[in-house]
Amino acid sequence: MEYKPITKPAIEQFAVEPNLGEYDGARQSITWEQIRSELDGHPGGGLNIAYECLDRHLKTNRRDKVAMIWEGKDGEQETYTFEQFTKEANRVANGLRALGVEKGDRVFMFIDRVPECYFTAFGTLKLGAVIGPLFCAFGPDAVKDRLEDSAAKVLVTSPALWEKIKEIRGDLPALKTVVLVTRREEAKPAAGEVLWDDVIAGQSDEFETVNTDPEDYSVMHYTSGTTGKPKGAAHVHNAIIGHYATGKYVLDLHEEDIYWCTADPGWVTGTSYGMFAPWSNGVTSLIHEGGFSANAWYGLIAKYKVTVWYTAPTAIRMLMKAGEAAAKKHDLSSLRYTMSVGEPLNPEAVVWGERAIGLPFHDNWWQTETGAIMIANYASMEIRPGSMGRPFPGIEPAIVDDEGNEVAPGEEGDLAVRPGWPSMFRTYWNREELYDSCFRNGWYITGDRARMDEDGYFWFIGRADDVINTAGHLVGPFEVESALLEHEAVAEAGVIGKPDPVAMEVVKAFVALKDGYEESEELRRELRQFAIGKLGKAVAPREIEFLPGMPKTRSGKIMRRLLKARELGLPEGDTSTLED
Ligand code: PRX
Repeated sequence: MEYKPITKPAIEQFAVEPNLGEYDGARQSITWEQIRSELDGHPGGGLNIAYECLDRHLKTNRRDKVAMIWEGKDGEQETYTFEQFTKEANRVANGLRALGVEKGDRVFMFIDRVPECYFTAFGTLKLGAVIGPLFCAFGPDAVKDRLEDSAAKVLVTSPALWEKIKEIRGDLPALKTVVLVTRREEAKPAAGEVLWDDVIAGQSDEFETVNTDPEDYSVMHYTSGTTGKPKGAAHVHNAIIGHYATGKYVLDLHEEDIYWCTADPGWVTGTSYGMFAPWSNGVTSLIHEGGFSANAWYGLIAKYKVTVWYTAPTAIRMLMKAGEAAAKKHDLSSLRYTMSVGEPLNPEAVVWGERAIGLPFHDNWWQTETGAIMIANYASMEIRPGSMGRPFPGIEPAIVDDEGNEVAPGEEGDLAVRPGWPSMFRTYWNREELYDSCFRNGWYITGDRARMDEDGYFWFIGRADDVINTAGHLVGPFEVESALLEHEAVAEAGVIGKPDPVAMEVVKAFVALKDGYEESEELRRELRQFAIGKLGKAVAPREIEFLPGMPKTRSGKIMRRLLKARELGLPEGDTSTLED
């Protein structure tokens, strides 16, 4: 089926940036200097994300404006103005300082979407320390790898989540303190543990945000590669320029908006666009702790009169499954702009949005390493369903070949971006050589395959590597294979992404058993539980299939590509390196 471009009534989004309003390929219509001048900057001359998101609004009439509307999983509701939010973050900053946290230290968060998660993030940033958000559906091994690599000093979590992983404590000598948020459960702190209430008790709600340099580290997100353990993409305070700019021009945030980003802070969308973009723009943001249900989600939009909504393809496909009628039962007339990110957005989903909620979904593209949106279907632009859109001003993406030379429009190649934008990651923690290997001929190579059409719209083709994208979350096959190999019955494991109509891909493991073990339904279940116990549901394989042995290269490397081709019934491609 052919999808026609969607043109919408002209809006004034880029009234001050004429080059984008009528896009003509010019990319410099907004300069980073211009954007930077709209931020306050730290009075001491530096730049600090928390200062731009919180402190600076207290000097304006946003002081009493609601920054965060929080709805808990049981329907509880709390709101925090910019001033109240700042005071909470200040208490945390003072409390963390009392625990010995210093500038540059890593404070990790393994906590649900409760207000304390957000207070911790900003308290830590105010202190000049670095936040490391983790997804709550990780298991002990997944958390351990990340805390170990980053040498995190403090972990903020809840008693229930800590219970799930606390066996790892002995392996983490750098971890000095575990802070337990007892919002939902009681806890008796053991040695090295302290209750949240005790951390902030008696702390002043005044705190002078540390005058960080724009190049000081701010946020770390672990992301999966094709080989090796997850790597920590490290960002700096300067990134706020990108968050603010894309919040204004891609999310199209305006003063009166009620904005809802459905992503969890454990993934980069939940920090860059769940926290930094809305709050640096002084906009009210809805945080929903609960999980997905079509009815609950539509209900939230109607209840809080959400105007700008940023979500993901898997969620949209689940809404499509629930049917148009489910949307029509709610008053969604407050919505004026809806976007999607994280996976390819089916053209059908774009058009479905128009039918069911009266608005098309605007797709955009970026990744953990880029820190902020690079390519987008802007509010002011014609949408080409199936395309990720066009570059943000000041961003120069291209499609390049193996030598790093740009290819002609329409040709497939590696999606690359010219380095130098403010929110670009500065390194992979402890893995400088891996960071260096991401560059070719002056381009940052993203790991995605794509093409660009004659009009400068980019179209996603697939990953260049074996990284799995399940429901918008990247999973590294090596991490899953390593966990399975720790089971006594497993001789070899090969892990692939199996296409799935809703989640795009699900993690599928092929397992060869050691001599003396028989394949059985029971063993399959046991292996799955074993992997969940180690990695958590977000990473563990959904499916396991037994094979007598793995296809391997002559040098002994498991050929995941071949496992995938066989799974899909596709031609096996070049097998000349296959072991005899
Ligand atoms: O493969 C691309 C896919 O998700 C990857 C980035 O994932 P992550 O680092 O977890 O960052 C999440 C924040 C967006 C990309 O390399 N991806 C992201 N957006 C799109 C996409 N694939 C297709 N279309 C998109 N719009």
